[in-house]
Amino acid sequence: MSRSLSRLNPSGMKEFFFGVPYYPEHWSEKEREKDPELMKNAGVNVVRMGEFAWDMMEPSEGVFDFSFFDDQVDRLGAAGIKTFFCTPTAAPPRWLSEKHPEILRVGEDGGVMQHGSRQHACTASPVFIEYSRRITKAVAEHFADNPNIAGFQTDNELNCHFQWCHCDSCTKEFRKYLRLKYKTIEQLNKAWGNSFWSQTLSDFDQVLIPKHFAPTHHNPGAMLDYRLFSAWTVTRFQHEQIKILRSVNPGWIIFHNGIMRGVDYRGDFSAELDVLGFDSYPHFCADTDKRPGVAAFSYDNVRAMAGCFIVPEMQAGAGGQTNYFNSLVVPGDIRKNTYRAVGHGADGIMYFRWRTCRFGAEEYWRGIIDHDNIPRRRYQEMASIGKEIKNFSSFVLGSIPENEVAVGCGDYIADQIHETYSLGMPDIYSVASEVHNYFYSRHYFVGCAHPADDLSGLKLYILPHWEYVSGEWVENMKKWVSEGGVLIIGARCGTKTVQNSVTSESFPGVLRELAGVSVYDYGKVYMDVPKTYSFSVGGSVFPAFHWFEELEPDPGTRAVGIWTERPYAGRCAVTMRKFGAGTVFYAGTYLSGALAEHLSTISGVELTHFDLPSNVEIMRRRGNGAVTTFVINNSDDVVDVSGILDSGRVVVGENSGEVPPDGVCIFRCDL
Ligand code: GAL
Ligand code: ZN
Repeated sequence: MSRSLSRLNPSGMKEFFFGVPYYPEHWSEKEREKDPELMKNAGVNVVRMGEFAWDMMEPSEGVFDFSFFDDQVDRLGAAGIKTFFCTPTAAPPRWLSEKHPEILRVGEDGGVMQHGSRQHACTASPVFIEYSRRITKAVAEHFADNPNIAGFQTDNELNCHFQWCHCDSCTKEFRKYLRLKYKTIEQLNKAWGNSFWSQTLSDFDQVLIPKHFAPTHHNPGAMLDYRLFSAWTVTRFQHEQIKILRSVNPGWIIFHNGIMRGVDYRGDFSAELDVLGFDSYPHFCADTDKRPGVAAFSYDNVRAMAGCFIVPEMQAGAGGQTNYFNSLVVPGDIRKNTYRAVGHGADGIMYFRWRTCRFGAEEYWRGIIDHDNIPRRRYQEMASIGKEIKNFSSFVLGSIPENEVAVGCGDYIADQIHETYSLGMPDIYSVASEVHNYFYSRHYFVGCAHPADDLSGLKLYILPHWEYVSGEWVENMKKWVSEGGVLIIGARCGTKTVQNSVTSESFPGVLRELAGVSVYDYGKVYMDVPKTYSFSVGGSVFPAFHWFEELEPDPGTRAVGIWTERPYAGRCAVTMRKFGAGTVFYAGTYLSGALAEHLSTISGVELTHFDLPSNVEIMRRRGNGAVTTFVINNSDDVVDVSGILDSGRVVVGENSGEVPPDGVCIFRCDL
């Protein structure tokens, strides 16, 4: 099975799952006695279970015991609550690391990861993969016909704490991977440019995983291939589990929970899942003004990778581990955080975690219920959301978030090409999130899209600074522009090849023809020195950010932005050209939201946006015969959205359209 990963894809969920990750293994029978009833009263219809309990399921090698979990699944089932079970491979038991210490991950400094936390086993290790297959098979076969099992989560947040392994298995597997990819060592030498600094290899067995322990910088081709290999091993690890789960019960919903570094979620990793999960912890951002924008961007980024999503872990309380504790979850936050996620495409929500655990590395991670087993305000808040969700879940489930503006996101290769050769420039995501936030806080319908995705429905697409852009993506963007789209391309796009080397074409490489411009000179602009550069576009002056390019427009391309400072005064900074029914801008500096908005005005494109205070959020989902609008008021004042309500019917909030501070209004218009 392989699913298309368009942002226009619905999640495919048939029911809106509402629940919690549940850890019955941490509690006595007495302490968890009332759980099914309490959950049911809060609207829970699903729990997630088992991801860290391998030691209970296989207490010694080959001895399986699922009786404890059978009992929990049955008791919840009797209350009408289904279970997503998990493959427990995020926390391999001690007998395994004792018997096979070679499965332990190794850091860049050669340090072997000790048993005692989690994620200590290498997902590239053939020995660990074999054990992972065995436990997956055992757990899947055990629950095969259990009607209370809705499906499975694979592992847990693969790569969350550790991404780049240097164990012996990784070196061996990396060599195998390169053999398959390049066939001959000569091809590898050519691809990496090994004639530079005498790096020519005569055999694949000479390949090393690049480490920081070198006098100076490593070969960028080698670094990139290692990052691609590493992500490929994570996909392979998960694939082995999915194959077993699907063969045992093809009806199960299978998902994973991200988003972490070093995983290519837009590749086979997500295409094999029924839905990608995104674990949302908005309170890692302590700045309450920035938090909505940061969270909104994170959801849109997931959609650029794999379409609509579920949230297997939604923050339910302020939490921490041994050396940190994140910002307060104040009354109303759970509700606002929930509806922001749903407004951005979440088709299921589970609150992390049901009850605050009193021991282990997350002692103070506050769940829905406190450590003393008393349901307080957070439980009440969840229960009221559980009721409200029923007012709209039937028509919101499977509907698509509306976007007229999108920022390029979601490509693993482009991201890694930047990470392994950044020149000290801001990364792809920091610029994308700044631009996204600008439009979001001004109440445009903004999202994120991969340049290979179906861009229909978008009016404005902004590709920030992707050094790597593939020719296929250019063809896709060309088609969309020729049909009327407005494209803004940021400096440095298209300058690199898929091998992490510099293109032989004039910049912007593969985008030269579409943008109708070439770069004559370029360099870095230091933001912390007095000398900066500015340019004027139609009477407005903008500062250069981080980078400077002197552009030469092709015939037919207009110079709409002009550098204003000596010695480049009068030279071209921004171009614009008509392409079919659409428009292409190229900016010779790093983009800001303000510049992108200004260029969109020059293009004449008409974008929907609302005149609301900046700390009010608005999002929309379309489908199932309805357009559903979500308004969240983060301000201290009542906000009146009755003017926007139009003929809409309020399904959550005040019918008058008045939204109190920290309040929410959700309304439906028929399509
Ligand atoms: C997630 C993880 C959970 C828990 C939570 C709070 O990243 O999946 O198991 O650790 O964070 O720290
Ligand atoms: Zn390894």
